[in-house]
Amino acid sequence: MTETPKITQEFLDSSQYLESSILQYESIYGADFVSPGGRELARELIATMDLAPASRVLDVGCGLGGSAFVMASEFDLRVDGIDLSRNMLALAELKLATNGLSNLVRLQWGDCLELDAREQYDAVYSRDVFLHIADKTRLFARLHAALRPGGSLLFTDYCCGPQPWSDEFFDYVEARGYSLHTVLEYAELISAAAFEQVGARDETARFVELLQAEHDRIDALPMPAGERDYLKHSWQGKLQRASAGDQRWGLFSAVKAR
Ligand SMILES: C[S@@+](CC[C@H](N)C(=O)[O-])C[C@H]1O[C@@H](n2cnc3c(N)ncnc32)[C@H](O)[C@@H]1O
Repeated sequence: MTETPKITQEFLDSSQYLESSILQYESIYGADFVSPGGRELARELIATMDLAPASRVLDVGCGLGGSAFVMASEFDLRVDGIDLSRNMLALAELKLATNGLSNLVRLQWGDCLELDAREQYDAVYSRDVFLHIADKTRLFARLHAALRPGGSLLFTDYCCGPQPWSDEFFDYVEARGYSLHTVLEYAELISAAAFEQVGARDETARFVELLQAEHDRIDALPMPAGERDYLKHSWQGKLQRASAGDQRWGLFSAVKAR
């Protein structure tokens, strides 16, 4: 576990989520997505939430809106997406303006740590966002408060192996300002926020499969050779860190007591 300062909109928009970087990520993950597995995995995970049509979902760190759009168009859910990156949200809003889903999807700029929703949602969903958030205690308290009794939480996130880490992994985490936990630590943090039926699965093997497929896709992307080499190098780094056991990936679920 690392201690990092609070990540700001300015930091995200001037480092990892420059518009050009977002578009590069999207070209690898697929239209509207900035997370492993793209649309296909989003569809699979959303189905596991088993929500009735018209249920209300909060997509925390909605990015380009991909999951929110799938929830609305394929599952008939009403979704509020919140994201701290203005670059990300501006691109998501452009998509929402033309995809015909604005009757079911609302997008809002904001920090989920400042969320003030009270028992509003049937489910909270998030994909690979909490790595940016150091104060997990506050995070899970806010998400718990936002759920109605009986509501569910589902998220995936980058995780880590137990310390000590390799120097390379330590530098990678520090440079991005990530705040990572082992799968077990995450389960404890979720339980400590009064969630019940906590599920915590190490899905690193699936992550590696997805990374490999994404890595292989980069070759066919229409972009300058230098850009392609940079992205391949970046994906090879993730593959190496995951194979070495430092970088992990987790799938988490929980329920708020009735
Ligand atoms: C890896 S992207 C994933 C985006 C999206 N969930 C997806 O699956 O494509 C992480 C997202 O989390 C957002 N984010 C980071 N910290 C946040 C916070 N405190 N509140 C809301 N969004 C945040 C980032 O701006 C970014 O859009």
